[in-house]
Amino acid sequence: MKNILIYLGLVVTIVALYGFAFTIADQPKADGKKIFVDSKCNMCHTVTSAGIESKKSDATDLSKVGANRTVEFLTKYLKKEAKLNDKDHKSSFKGTDEDLTALVQWLSTLK
Ligand code: HEC
Repeated sequence: MKNILIYLGLVVTIVALYGFAFTIADQPKADGKKIFVDSKCNMCHTVTSAGIESKKSDATDLSKVGANRTVEFLTKYLKKEAKLNDKDHKSSFKGTDEDLTALVQWLSTLK
């Protein structure tokens, strides 16, 4: 009798864990727009098409950045591994590679 209870307990645990993993896998990937705001990119940039404003009066608008730049370039540029007009980007991205990927993915959709 005791064995059956242990067995049942195990089955319930496995089902619960499976359901848990499934929920996590189903969640949307990191949100690039949120990372943009959280990383304070809006200190120097607006993205008017996404409703992101900057306090800086001469902020560069990134609303169409995806039309001109590739994912590869943006990833390198934000890590200061590539230059634009012979200049490094002002700030090097401090977050994780995962966040950078999500951020660049989002930027590349801005067209
Ligand atoms: C201290 C100010 C500052 C901050 C903070 C900043 N940038 Fe920039 N960024 C600049 C400047 C200056 C340029 C280059 C010149 C320009 O286009 O005005 C630039 C250029 C860019 C470009 C290239 C635009 C183009 O013309 O193709 C991208 C993309 C970009 N920034 C993304 C970001 C992201 C993402 C963040 C946040 C992780 C960020 N920036 C934070 C100042 C800043």
